[in-house]
Amino acid sequence: MIHYQVVDTYEELCRLGADLIATQIKNKPNAVLGLATGSSPVGIYQNLIALYQAGKLDFSKITSVNLDEYVGLSADHPQSYRYFMQKNLFDHVNIDPAKTFVPNGLATDVDAECSAYDRRIETLGGIDLQLLGIGLDGHIGFNEPGDRFIEETHPVLLHPSTIQANARFFESIEEVPRSAITMGIGSIMRARKILLIANGPAKKEIIEKAVSGPVTPLVQASILQQHPDVTVIYSKL
Ligand code: F6R
Repeated sequence: MIHYQVVDTYEELCRLGADLIATQIKNKPNAVLGLATGSSPVGIYQNLIALYQAGKLDFSKITSVNLDEYVGLSADHPQSYRYFMQKNLFDHVNIDPAKTFVPNGLATDVDAECSAYDRRIETLGGIDLQLLGIGLDGHIGFNEPGDRFIEETHPVLLHPSTIQANARFFESIEEVPRSAITMGIGSIMRARKILLIANGPAKKEIIEKAVSGPVTPLVQASILQQHPDVTVIYSKL
């Protein structure tokens, strides 16, 4: 079931989103958080950092698993998702670095990395709260439109619109990696709670398709309609 909330500003979205995550952490201090990168969650992470700095949040027992990573980028590459997480959250809170997991984009055996990632999530007991952004093509993680929902963590060729959208983070579009490793729809759907966020007019059409359009692998986020506990927050700006 989706609880769909529309707010006016990104600031409001971030406050509400951070509150939901903070409540999860307070209710279960050793929670497993599924985290996302990209521009949408940045303000949420800033709010969480502020709560931590104010002594209102403790990450010491938290474990995190990230959705995805570019293939070919090392942890210290400024556009890698590991680097993003360090700079936007992990370096600023008291999370144990050994308990932060991001797929290894440099794995020589990508398939082995993918199955190890799924085993890791399973061993952790699954994800308590999964934070998601949404791509303009409806992707969640890097689960791109296709003819089916792929359950397991897997390598993906990025959709041209995703490469285009992510080019803003790189010097040129040629530098955007063509492939990534992404958590599959299975681990996402097994998360006990999901928070999907989207902001700005460009995301309006796709978020509405995801929330109330037909459930189809052409809009991967639409599968969330079949999850029992999803909060979607869309901000108009
Ligand atoms: C990031 C991720 C992606 C993004 C999506 C939206 O870890 O999994 O699905 O959430 O591409 O990106 P932004 O927020 O930059 O519009």
